[in-house]
Amino acid sequence: MSVEKTPVEDLTEEQAAAELAYLAAEIARHDELYHGHDAPEISDADYDALKRRNDAIEKRFPKLIRADSPSIRVGAAPLPTFAPITHARPMLSLDNTFSDDDVRDFVNSVYRFLGQLPDGSIAFTAEPKIDGLSMSIRYEHGQLVNAATRGDGTTGENVTENIKTIKEIPNGLPAGVPDVIEVRGEVYMRKSDFLALNAQMEAEGKQTYVNPRNTAAGSLRQLDARVTASRNLKFFAYAWGEMSEMPADTQMGMVEKFKEWGFPVNPLMKRLNSVDDIIDHYKQIGLKRPDLDYEIDGVVYKVDRLDLQGRLGFRSRSPRWATAHKFPAEQAFTHVERIDIQVGRTGALTPVARLTPVTVGGVVVTNATLHNEDYIKGIGNSGERIREEEHDIRIGDTVIVQRAGDVIPQVLDVVMEKRPPDAVPYEFPKKCPVCGSHAVREKNEKTGKLDSVTRCTGGFVCRAQAVEHLKHFVSRNAFDIEGLGSKQIDFFFESEDPALQVRTAPDIFTLKKRQEASPLTKLENIEGFGKVSVKKLFDAIDSRREIALHRFIYALGIRHIGETNAKLLARAYGTYEAFEKAMKEAADLSGDAWDDLNNIEGIGEVVARAIVEFFKEPRNVEVITRLLEEVTPQEAEQIAASGSPVAGKTVVFTGSLEKFTRDEAKARAESLGAKVAGSVSKKTDFVVAGPGAGSKLDKAREFGVQVMDEDEWLAFIGG
Ligand code: IVH
Repeated sequence: MSVEKTPVEDLTEEQAAAELAYLAAEIARHDELYHGHDAPEISDADYDALKRRNDAIEKRFPKLIRADSPSIRVGAAPLPTFAPITHARPMLSLDNTFSDDDVRDFVNSVYRFLGQLPDGSIAFTAEPKIDGLSMSIRYEHGQLVNAATRGDGTTGENVTENIKTIKEIPNGLPAGVPDVIEVRGEVYMRKSDFLALNAQMEAEGKQTYVNPRNTAAGSLRQLDARVTASRNLKFFAYAWGEMSEMPADTQMGMVEKFKEWGFPVNPLMKRLNSVDDIIDHYKQIGLKRPDLDYEIDGVVYKVDRLDLQGRLGFRSRSPRWATAHKFPAEQAFTHVERIDIQVGRTGALTPVARLTPVTVGGVVVTNATLHNEDYIKGIGNSGERIREEEHDIRIGDTVIVQRAGDVIPQVLDVVMEKRPPDAVPYEFPKKCPVCGSHAVREKNEKTGKLDSVTRCTGGFVCRAQAVEHLKHFVSRNAFDIEGLGSKQIDFFFESEDPALQVRTAPDIFTLKKRQEASPLTKLENIEGFGKVSVKKLFDAIDSRREIALHRFIYALGIRHIGETNAKLLARAYGTYEAFEKAMKEAADLSGDAWDDLNNIEGIGEVVARAIVEFFKEPRNVEVITRLLEEVTPQEAEQIAASGSPVAGKTVVFTGSLEKFTRDEAKARAESLGAKVAGSVSKKTDFVVAGPGAGSKLDKAREFGVQVMDEDEWLAFIGG
């Protein structure tokens, strides 16, 4: 083409859009001529010039990238790696409620926490719970500076370039907005766009996508932002992170501001006071659900007044001032073809029903968890019947399966009329199917009842337990080693080659050395690994040689130690050495170290015992010692609110409090970084005693612990 073209910098948006449309059609035509007919009309150089022009325009106007853009290469996308972003404020999740009664309980708990009678004076907002991906978008001086996925709530992935391509999300905000704004909300894909995309994939003979949520996630986690741009992702703003200034004092007011600033907000959000009105709105939204062009999986209720939200505060992972009222799950009928037993990290034998594939709410279901022996029989965890007599689950049965959100599908009930005459009750194995060791149900010491879980007694002998330990160790909230997934762990575990074998966690960190020392077995020559991926894998492993203490503790795979408990322990002990030392001192379940462990708010006796038992096993300590030769857990971050005089101190409340409810006092102290304990020990720093205080006060005096009344406490923490 010899016509002089306007320089890309001078194009208006309108001209750019028109030219991109022209280029898409023109380049497609040349592609067709070249590949389909072997009859090119233009030279390769001219063809390249068209593509370069297209790329340059797209670079300047990322929002104009078309679904049929010639720049979007088909084929396997590279494995995405995004830089981490630590959220200025953590991104929390929501508690779930499932019934009207749960909603009443939630509303009542808000009043109770605030020490008020449930008189309908507190307003709540109610809005759809969008089934997409949550996103935090940060603006400084009105300009979009970065955008991050939720990740583990503390650290997400930097997807700024991709987010900038979403037309609905403004890159710049109107003049006069606060200096720092973090708008949070949900990125989603419209149902109609999802169906159209799948139709296109099918027409091209490619694999289709599972659901809009996963497709939106996949579209966003693209190294090539142009792919994201072509997917027409959408956004609803409903929350915020850091704000240099609060532009409103209610939830509703904040969302109205977001709207003023140019963000899409959900039109079905309402402010309501009475529980009946709230539940009615839930039902109305439920009725509209099939007609909405986006997936929702419930309704979110939030206390409207932000000062009350502040007083209510947070539990470990979710706010007390909000809850998600989920829609009932979707169900379907299918057959149980087989029952398999999976052996987990802690030796638990979990039966899994292999089902004739069936679509439930748009997703193909082939497996359902059967939890344990009792569940198959129709008995719940507290011995209650969960299905009618005789409705035990048998191979060959026709069953109702249910899927709710992202959770593993459940078998709800058996259709008795369809039970084959030769179906026999399922006999739960008495031996571990993997290592052959005895599988037993332990007795709960407190209740004397049989535990519902059947456990393999093989311990380290059991390959299944060892493999699952490793998988847990590398998992997302533990060491999070990219490139070391389930498949790779299986491979390294099974290998008999000393240069490849990984049987325990420290082996992961010696793998590179062993590879370098072995002239024969080279990982890069093994199918599934290439030179590049091997280098990436070793880099990923090396990048975890320093690790946050709570991740390290979580990764050890101690029974009952999930992420929350691991964080509590890291915060309480500060260093790994201090933690291990204390756990060994607590070995006989008495003494100061044992008391301190039990005094950590949130750690109960069952959990405390499990940790101590873990460290009593010499094999565990031996593996950790080897691991510590390779890996350094970092000192736990000191508690956030370090400016407060109570940060890091242990407080006990006793007697009746008059200005706050006990829950609120506790939450407040914790938000200032204090540990709130249930009993007084030598390590207690303060006892706050109200009228009626008894033995705890005596003990405080005995140990010489500082005692204050409620007013002194309030003055101490700054009102
Ligand atoms: S509020 C502090 N509102 O649900 C709580 N969340 O289960 C902030 N979600 O991670 C969340 N729609 O991804 C809120 N209208 C809505 C929502 C919503 C969807 C998601 C969000 C969050 C998850 C929590």
